[in-house]
Amino acid sequence: MQRKTVRDLTAAEIRGRRALVRVDFNVPLDGVAITDDRRIRAAAPTIAYLRDRGARVVLLSHLGRPKAKVEPKYSLHPLVAAASAALGTTVQWCGETVGSAAVAATRALGDGEVLLLENTRFLAGEETNAAALSQALGDLGDFYVNDAFGTAHRAHASTSGVASLLRPAVAGLLMERELEYLGRVLEKPARPFIAILGGSKISGKIDVIEALLPKVDGLLIGGAMACTFYKAMGFETGGSLIEPDRVELAAELIARAGFRLTLPHDAMVSRAIEAAKSAHAVKRDAIPPTEAMYDIGPDSCASYTRAIGTAKTIVWNGPMGVFEKPPFNAGTLAVARAMADATAAGATTIVGGGDSAAAVEQAGLASSMSHVSTGGGASLEFLEGKALPGVECLDLKGTH
Ligand code: 3PG
Repeated sequence: MQRKTVRDLTAAEIRGRRALVRVDFNVPLDGVAITDDRRIRAAAPTIAYLRDRGARVVLLSHLGRPKAKVEPKYSLHPLVAAASAALGTTVQWCGETVGSAAVAATRALGDGEVLLLENTRFLAGEETNAAALSQALGDLGDFYVNDAFGTAHRAHASTSGVASLLRPAVAGLLMERELEYLGRVLEKPARPFIAILGGSKISGKIDVIEALLPKVDGLLIGGAMACTFYKAMGFETGGSLIEPDRVELAAELIARAGFRLTLPHDAMVSRAIEAAKSAHAVKRDAIPPTEAMYDIGPDSCASYTRAIGTAKTIVWNGPMGVFEKPPFNAGTLAVARAMADATAAGATTIVGGGDSAAAVEQAGLASSMSHVSTGGGASLEFLEGKALPGVECLDLKGTH
């Protein structure tokens, strides 16, 4: 980690000062009920670290994708209770994000107190990283902490612009942990190192496939994206989801990757996703024209489990099938269980965010992984080797 973290701050830099902390509280909501509070819990160690040292903590986050205007369904207000519970303290609330009321609320904080401000994406200038908004955000704190790994791939005013105005500007403990685990995969993975990539579309995973191929000992493919590869191999894919404009690319990847690329040998198919009772396994070259693939098959589950069992580093992003709809969750569960066993046997196991993280959480296996990332797009971009603006803006170790 070449960027400074909260651990590098002196007592004098923290005590009695307003810590402007960008968190990623972009949690899934059902109305106003939080259906997964993992991201809030994940930010707790940083906030506790700062509070314990007497900081006055001002939290900034986005929620959803409001279009630079107030949209009540994206208010952060429903998160106050969950944040208070996760942080073990009463989180104060201000219905503004910037401006005199927000600044006054930050100035009224006592040492160790926490304030949550309204959604940063209600403001024009957030997503365009406007200097005027960065300035207004800068008035809310005395130093800056970015703990929003999930949003670190966005160069927004609250994740990047404001960092140039406040000193120190450092990473939080969650950001540090994410970069350490994901960085280890890219820099010095214990071998054998395998990556498992799933999900529905090759198009979203091309860059990560390209970036990981030269580094891995094996790349296992799952999810509907396998069908675009099958098409490239000349197999019938029935009604499976494929990307016709990526078939050529899939063929090229198969040729280039050689033995390192493994496609599922069999598939769970049925007439429709709702026709779960008629689900059955077929070899990959025997998908009936009237059926579609919704999961990897049992032979593939067994061979992927074996491959995971021999690896020392495993990174996984994207489900193997439609895991929300049993029995099409079997492939995803098999990978999750094999990774949990691998962790217990001493391997480093990393689950990229998004759907695979949700699946691991649902299976009750999150604590059996070395690391479950809180970033979906951010972890993919990091693994693709791209610089993350939310990290690049932070102080380098050894400076200031
Ligand atoms: C995420 O959920 O991936 C992050 O919070 C970023 O959200 P965004 O894709 O709306 O920028």
